[in-house]
Amino acid sequence: MAVRLRRRGGDLAPDPELWAALRHGDGLREVLDDFYTRVYADPRLGPFFRFATRERAIDKQFAFLKELLTGEECYFGDRPYNAHHWMVISDELFDHREQLMADCLRRHGLDEAQVARFRRIDEVFRKQIVKSEPKPKKLRGEAIPLTGFGDVVIAGGTLCDGCGQALDDGSAARYHLRTGQTYGLTCCDGAEPRGLERA
Ligand code: HEM
Repeated sequence: MAVRLRRRGGDLAPDPELWAALRHGDGLREVLDDFYTRVYADPRLGPFFRFATRERAIDKQFAFLKELLTGEECYFGDRPYNAHHWMVISDELFDHREQLMADCLRRHGLDEAQVARFRRIDEVFRKQIVKSEPKPKKLRGEAIPLTGFGDVVIAGGTLCDGCGQALDDGSAARYHLRTGQTYGLTCCDGAEPRGLERA
């Protein structure tokens, strides 16, 4: 089911003129390609993306913005609150990201009025994204645990998310309640190796 961003996005009506300025998608893809290259290289923003590929970030953001700008239901990802629930993002870091985006938009030919209209979209979601501590993800109104592990017996076989070793059919493992990442009991003691912790 589509996410119905527009109702949540308050006054965000589709903006066909801005979509046209972004060459009906081709220009937007170029902007996002440039933007995420800079985001991944940015010392403050880059670390948030260590569990997501640049291509995935671009594709999700493209669909999200396309839906908002055209009104066409094409985004099937998380809402901004859930997508960022574990990320501690300050107003100042949010401003920094906006600045980076504005610079990319200018480099790709948008004028100041168009940059300001683009920024209005981000601003609608600021309150859902900026926070001083992680918030639980919500699924149909229910809060999902932020931390903790459950026990699982591997059916079929998979790879340990900690070290990549094979977890054979019937072996004991533990999985992170929020992320679903699975760690073998024998290889990784059923826990995330140091430095991999998400929240
Ligand atoms: C400093 C600000 C921000 C940071 C650090 C940030 C970081 C991230 C990261 C790391 C992901 C990937 C999550 C994952 O795949 O597990 C993500 C996804 C996403 N972000 Fe942001 N973000 C920021 C601001 C925004 C803003 C302003 C918007 C939109 C207005 C936005 C929209 C999205 C969308 C649509 C996704 C995809 C959600 C999904 O995977 O279903 N983000 N963000």
